[in-house]
Amino acid sequence: MDYSFQFDSLEGYKEAYKNSVENPEQFWSKVADTFAWHKKWDKTLEWDFKTPKIEWFKGGKLNITENCLDRHLAERGNQPALIWEPNNPTHQTRTYTYKELHREVCRFANVLKNNGVQKGDRICIYMGMVPELAISLLACARLGAIHSVIFGGFSANSILDRLEDAGASFIITCDGAFRGSKVIPLKEIIDDALQTFSSIQKVIVLKHTNSPVSMVENRDIWWGDEMKKLDEKGDHFQAEIMDAEDPLYILYTSGSTGKPKGVVHSVAGYMIFTTYTFVNVFQYKPGQVFFCTADIGWVTGHSYIVYGPLSAGAISLMFEGIPTWPDAGRFWDIVDKYRVNIFYTAPTAIRSLMGFGAKPLEGKDLSSLEVLGTVGEPINIEAWEWYNQFIGKNQCPIVDTWWQTETGGILISNFAGISPSRPCWATLPLPGVQPVLINDQGKEVTEKIDGLFKGNLCMKSPWPSILRTTYGDHERFRLTYFSTYPGLYFSGDGALKDEEGNFRIIGRVDDVLNVSGHRIGTAEVENAINMCEGVVESAVVAYPHDIKGHGIYAFVILNMEKPPGQIAEEKIRDMVAEQIGHFAKPDKIQIVKGLPKTRSGKIMRRILRKIAENEVENLGDTTSLLDPEIVAEIIREKL
Ligand code: WTA
Repeated sequence: MDYSFQFDSLEGYKEAYKNSVENPEQFWSKVADTFAWHKKWDKTLEWDFKTPKIEWFKGGKLNITENCLDRHLAERGNQPALIWEPNNPTHQTRTYTYKELHREVCRFANVLKNNGVQKGDRICIYMGMVPELAISLLACARLGAIHSVIFGGFSANSILDRLEDAGASFIITCDGAFRGSKVIPLKEIIDDALQTFSSIQKVIVLKHTNSPVSMVENRDIWWGDEMKKLDEKGDHFQAEIMDAEDPLYILYTSGSTGKPKGVVHSVAGYMIFTTYTFVNVFQYKPGQVFFCTADIGWVTGHSYIVYGPLSAGAISLMFEGIPTWPDAGRFWDIVDKYRVNIFYTAPTAIRSLMGFGAKPLEGKDLSSLEVLGTVGEPINIEAWEWYNQFIGKNQCPIVDTWWQTETGGILISNFAGISPSRPCWATLPLPGVQPVLINDQGKEVTEKIDGLFKGNLCMKSPWPSILRTTYGDHERFRLTYFSTYPGLYFSGDGALKDEEGNFRIIGRVDDVLNVSGHRIGTAEVENAINMCEGVVESAVVAYPHDIKGHGIYAFVILNMEKPPGQIAEEKIRDMVAEQIGHFAKPDKIQIVKGLPKTRSGKIMRRILRKIAENEVENLGDTTSLLDPEIVAEIIREKL
């Protein structure tokens, strides 16, 4: 494996950064040269943030799975590619070498093809964290089909929205998924979603939990049966030759308005940047065991369980279960069992495990750990220190990696062992990334407050794995990311910057909540609540939550003819679970008589946020409110 693009010192990083900014085309061409292509590209980069149009390696021909699998066979065919730890520690674990994973991917690609899947088709994947999930992604990519993974926590209604938006024609699912002591009936949920959606040609079902399922004739087929139909020729599948800019996948994510949007990533740029960031941020060395605890239902699993590590020829560990089952020492058992070298998780997991103290760590040998990482939300100092002391034993650099579904890979981070770990600071931009802080007037922030610049985090130019569009709606793509500050990509996050150019991410500045590292739009939750019988109106805001980061606080006006109280709250929570998923249920529901509104009828969320955060002394100007008395009443009755 050619890691010539891995820098190994701070000077090396600085040089790479300088080159990447001064001559991005030359810089990324050199990196791209280390990958396997059928045909090299004609033009490295073409872009404008106005249309917006972003094209990397145009004219290049390749298949990402040849980079993730085939190119490793000669050198490390017998090395583990994927290690799988099941939910139940007494069940059989599974390891796939690169050779074995290659074979399984080819076989499943043949199953897809035999069932009519073609290049460009959209395949919805709704599975638990089983190896067949990674195999499904790769099989789609081998064939040129566009996968769209839906996190196993989403409800039938959410699935339906996504199926419709993507125009999906195939589904890959499981009978059920194990999560701790629970079994989630995935196929049943799919059946619910399909009651009103008839464009699905085939549902491929993997038997995993042995839960009873109903199979619709001519539509539903078993994964196992289909694989058995193949002979040895099924072990081979000629990879579809893709254009660099062909879409690789769609992943839905929440924004501040309306329904989730389908973030589209394309093949070459995504592959190159996820590999580049994986190798450099974690300073991956061949043979190390890399354990990313994310779910493949979210972008972190796509980029740092599947594509980045496999393209780099790494050993990627995948875990089916949850950190607290059968007890709160589960992650540490896994680290001990597989001698994990690099461990990458979310602050919310750290905070929840911190609550169990040091006991779950007793008897666990964590001495294999060399690098720790966090992702998904700002980490608080207490959690950072606990992670550093109890897990890293003050010996492991902690990389704080900032990025988004839309960015495909890590944009701002420190580099393990190369640049310092600084609690709560993501620190430095990756080569090719040009962050800038912008004030509300749209100008670059030049004045410091208390020694720091503070503003809205934007990017001046494209990096290879920036999203290319939102599926089926390019105008929405333009409006969401490129219209707030013309000429810039706007992330939706606020950040601080010091004199040396280190960044600290503060969190979202739009109406997006970050609950346990899951992105949820306030508008989505409100829409769900408003569907409840007897609800007149609602407003949802975030409040600080010790473990989840954000908790969801809903202010709800009821039609007074229906009895308020306990039952209404249960109904509201059930409705949110039904419309979105259990993870989006409000933590607090306050029934109110009215909401603070401006004279023009706009809800003043700023005030509700302050109330939810318990900062009632400092509500700011309330004179423009239609009915200031309502605020006093909400505060009096606050939960
Ligand atoms: C937040 C997850 C602070 C941020 C990869 C971003 C972070 C949103 C960090 C994206 C970090 C992610 N420090 N905040 N290291 N990483 N975020 O799309 O608000 O699920 O906009 O992607 O998570 O969440 P998403």
